Amino acid sequence: METLIPIINRLQEVFLTLGAEIIQLPQIVVVGSQSSGKSSVLESLVGRDFLPRGSGIVTRRPLVLQLVNVPPLEERRKQDNGNKANARSGIKAEEWGTFLHCKNQIFTDFSEIRKEIAEETDRSTNNKGISPEPIYLKIYSPNVLSLTLVDLPGITKVPVGDQPEDIETQVQEMILSYISNPNSLILCVSPANSDLATSDALKLAREVDPDGRRTLLVVSKLDLMDAGTDALEVLLGRVIPVRLGIIGVVNRSQHDLNTQKSLDDSCKDEQVFLQRHYPSLASRCGSRYLARTLSRLLMHHIRDCLPELKTRVTVLTAQYQSRLNSYGQPVEDHSATLLQIVTKFATDYCNTIEGTARHIQTSELCGGARICY
Ligand code: GDP
Ligand code: NA
Ligand code: MG
Repeated sequence: METLIPIINRLQEVFLTLGAEIIQLPQIVVVGSQSSGKSSVLESLVGRDFLPRGSGIVTRRPLVLQLVNVPPLEERRKQDNGNKANARSGIKAEEWGTFLHCKNQIFTDFSEIRKEIAEETDRSTNNKGISPEPIYLKIYSPNVLSLTLVDLPGITKVPVGDQPEDIETQVQEMILSYISNPNSLILCVSPANSDLATSDALKLAREVDPDGRRTLLVVSKLDLMDAGTDALEVLLGRVIPVRLGIIGVVNRSQHDLNTQKSLDDSCKDEQVFLQRHYPSLASRCGSRYLARTLSRLLMHHIRDCLPELKTRVTVLTAQYQSRLNSYGQPVEDHSATLLQIVTKFATDYCNTIEGTARHIQTSELCGGARICY
């Protein structure tokens, strides 16, 4: 996704200059049964270890994770020299996080972020209870797209601990409130070692997205299938077709987490596994391919936003033009130069827009592997 970062930054600049709302990229919401691997999938997309994961119900409140693209530290330092009042001037880190519930605290250590998510979860819930109250986390980095990801509690049937009798309905309602937003991309996570036909995630997704325009299926735990079985039929879409695609992944096992296996090593091993077990599909599976697919979907979204942006520029140019005309004959002829400036401004922006559109059409976008770095 790194190829997307400069394009989006430039376009956001254009939008800001035009006084328009910045481009709203779709928010990516993960849905799946408990322990299907949702938090693991999100982490591999961001390329950082910072989410609590594990067996049982670990994610018990929605986590709304806003990634915010910021200039690299070096560049920020230069900018700050001329602007001491800049709120970020004190931050010496390349990447950092903040929570809405403790705004003034800056987290530069990602394991501290994970700890804070766990502690904040416990503050409002007890003994495995869940709460629809979201935790808002922002991660600032030069290596991310400004994009929102939502990690949700898993679908569960039988109440444990202090969970209410209607835990299943409560979780489903919570999930529906996020995925019914038409600007949500639904990432259904379903483990390869359970029957896809019983996937509650796909069932929920279908309720709000019957045509499958914004639902993508991730089949996790390919490494945990019974001997003698494989997920080939599922991955080929012969069991349940999913319009935007079905992508198999292997994330870190509990043992890998316990031994602190890095995301990079996990990604390499995943590739080796795919080559060995699914050679014909290896290039269309895996965490990197998932990130690329999301990248492509985001590009399509941006492409759909461009015509409106172009109309806005045209309207603005016409407005300037008629305002200039209404001034009548200038005393001194400054208007010509002003008009030239405005016209140049508009042309530049139209070029940016058209350049982006061309880029989307021509590029396969294989450059960036992850949303982050
Ligand atoms: P969530 O409850 O859906 O968010 O799932 P987590 O990401 O917390 O993962 C639940 C457990 O499954 C953890 O112990 C993970 O290590 C493990 N896990 C997740 N994905 C995979 C996978 O692809 N393969 C294996 N072997 N374990 C996985
Ligand atoms: Na879990
Ligand atoms: Mg989770």
